[in-house]
Amino acid sequence: MGRPPAEAVLPLPLQLLDGLRRARHVVVLTGAGISAESGIPTFRDALTGLWARFRPEELATPDAFVRDPDLVWQWYQWRREQIAAARPNAGHLALAALERLVPRLTLVTQNVDGLHQQAGSRQVVEFHGNIHRNRCSMDQELVDVDVRGTRRPPRCPRCGGMVRPDVVWFGEPIPRACLVQSQSAVARCDLFVSVGTSALVEPAAGLARLAREAGAVIVEINPAETPLTSSADYALQGAAGQLLPALAAALA
Ligand code: APR
Repeated sequence: MGRPPAEAVLPLPLQLLDGLRRARHVVVLTGAGISAESGIPTFRDALTGLWARFRPEELATPDAFVRDPDLVWQWYQWRREQIAAARPNAGHLALAALERLVPRLTLVTQNVDGLHQQAGSRQVVEFHGNIHRNRCSMDQELVDVDVRGTRRPPRCPRCGGMVRPDVVWFGEPIPRACLVQSQSAVARCDLFVSVGTSALVEPAAGLARLAREAGAVIVEINPAETPLTSSADYALQGAAGQLLPALAAALA
């Protein structure tokens, strides 16, 4: 991948650039906002069309799946279609570039769309799973099944349980390996960047607090205020697709 274009260099706090240049281990936490510029609606955006009367919090739960598996499945099929049509944007590409510019970068994403990997990021911790994978809701093992065009959950070939997307729903634990990997990276990082997340959902939101306790510099990139904004050392107000290329270009 080439360097981000020179016009991407915005005025950024010099002390922040200095901190980034000296950082040994950077942790970046991303949320739905980084994929917004790829055309994927964020979670807390009002849903459109058919789904306008549902809230994601009411669809992305184990209870919802038990109550109405077809509804939950169709919602995920709709999201899969949007994601299949999306491409990584300048923000994803800049993070992939940044990974090659600092000694160590751990990218923890709450997104399930796989766009960071498509952009070329190598060290990605998928905190909330991946929508492209499926697993059995009974035996919890991954299921390799072609789900294109299905309107109801297929059955697990091993035990007959209903197949569900391999994502973390509200009320479910984060996969242990992801949690351990993220928390140990955060405990060792000297710079923590929170990008495009409302910083409302635990335990992801708590990673910023852990980073602060570890003495890291906290940076936020978001056009809106979040519960993290007032305690961040640098709150950069703007779109990830503009600010991240500027950071990467300043460092390159
Ligand atoms: N650049 C950066 N941030 C943006 C952009 C952009 N172009 N556009 C929107 N945002 C910000 C919004 O201001 C908001 O703060 O992205 C954030 C998106 O917030 P949410 O929709 O709450 O998404 P997220 O924080 O990722 O949600 C966390 O909640 O629903 C669950 O499991 C789901 O992973 C998800 C988790």
